[in-house]
Amino acid sequence: MKTLQVDLGARAYPIYIGSGLLDDSALLRRHIQSQQVMVVTNTTIAPLYLDRVLNLLQGLHVETVVLPDGEQYKTLDSVTRIFDHLLQKKFSRNAGLIALGGGVIGDMGGFAAACYQRGISFIQIPTTLLAQVDSSVGGKTGVNHPLGKNMIGAFYQPQCVIADMAVLATLDDRQLSAGLAEVIKYGLIRDPDFFSWLERHCNDLLQRDSQALAYAVERSCWNKAQVVAADEMETGVRATLNLGHTFGHAIETGMGYGSYLHGEAVAIGTCLAADLSRRQGWLDADAVSRIERIFKAARLPIVPPSQLDSKRFMELMAVDKKNVDGLIRLILLKSIGAATLPVSVEKKLLEMTLSDYGG
Ligand code: NAD
Ligand code: GLY
Repeated sequence: MKTLQVDLGARAYPIYIGSGLLDDSALLRRHIQSQQVMVVTNTTIAPLYLDRVLNLLQGLHVETVVLPDGEQYKTLDSVTRIFDHLLQKKFSRNAGLIALGGGVIGDMGGFAAACYQRGISFIQIPTTLLAQVDSSVGGKTGVNHPLGKNMIGAFYQPQCVIADMAVLATLDDRQLSAGLAEVIKYGLIRDPDFFSWLERHCNDLLQRDSQALAYAVERSCWNKAQVVAADEMETGVRATLNLGHTFGHAIETGMGYGSYLHGEAVAIGTCLAADLSRRQGWLDADAVSRIERIFKAARLPIVPPSQLDSKRFMELMAVDKKNVDGLIRLILLKSIGAATLPVSVEKKLLEMTLSDYGG
């Protein structure tokens, strides 16, 4: 098992990465201070892993909430169901919550923990590649709004993250590829050596080579932990983690939540950001090709859906947390391995990227 630390002073916590961690009762219980524990999961993950987690919690008062599966259920209504259950079971302020699932469950479980009685402790047990490399680390929690992705939420850090690599065995190939989009992101924004490694090992990752996957998860979490420790509340460098996300979130909202997976939308968005970076004179055509190539190699889409024209894209991008005074701001690339802070670009250039980009 590898342990990384998210260095946030009083809110610091470990990320445990290894295979078989869902059988390690001592590891989990080290981070549980209460008799009352609420496990939040969904209808797909419950039959696969809920009993394993419940086994680790024997002797405690454990309740479970099993939510419907899907990005379209990442809503305040679902979070209210968690609140209802916590209140019906008379859970106190010292209770603990475990989010067992992908990013959707992690974001909602964390948000419920942030709000219930103004904050109870919680643990992330991420079960998708995307959640293990990104969403479980860093304390961004929340839900979608029909008008904008992740628009309602809170920063709220977990007590620990337990990433059991063995659970990835049941993840389907499309979801594995979606997770790779966020892995590739770390190479692009700050880790050019990792990007080169990914170019060489993309196929090993798709073949689920266990060493390659473990290395990718560790290096991604290391990058994320560094960025979060430097800028927990996203007043600066943390925004670089949103490379491709302004376009990506527009695709997710515009096409209907769940139609494109988050990682797929991020892959397309990152190619658009690369194209725009080239138009800004920062990336050369060769770098843009490398970026498109790696997403294609990871079996991810790189072209936006034809249903979204540039006018609709602009409307959707007007709802983004990086915008200031209504002005669209994006993360772009200066080179492979170096992202900009949020920048506003000439509207004409943005429209050219949106109307011309054909992959
Ligand atoms: P997800 O949570 O919807 O999970 C994907 C699918 O895989 C679901 O159907 C789920 O039930 C299933 N699943 C999960 N684990 C499984 C397993 N081990 N075996 C079989 N099936 C499994 O999607 P995701 O990609 O994990 O997360 C996407 C969400 O994360 C989005 O809502 C996105 O906005 C959010 N996100 C948040 C952050 C953050 O910092 N908080 C960062 C990135 C993404
Ligand atoms: N996924 C973006 C962030 O954690 O900041």
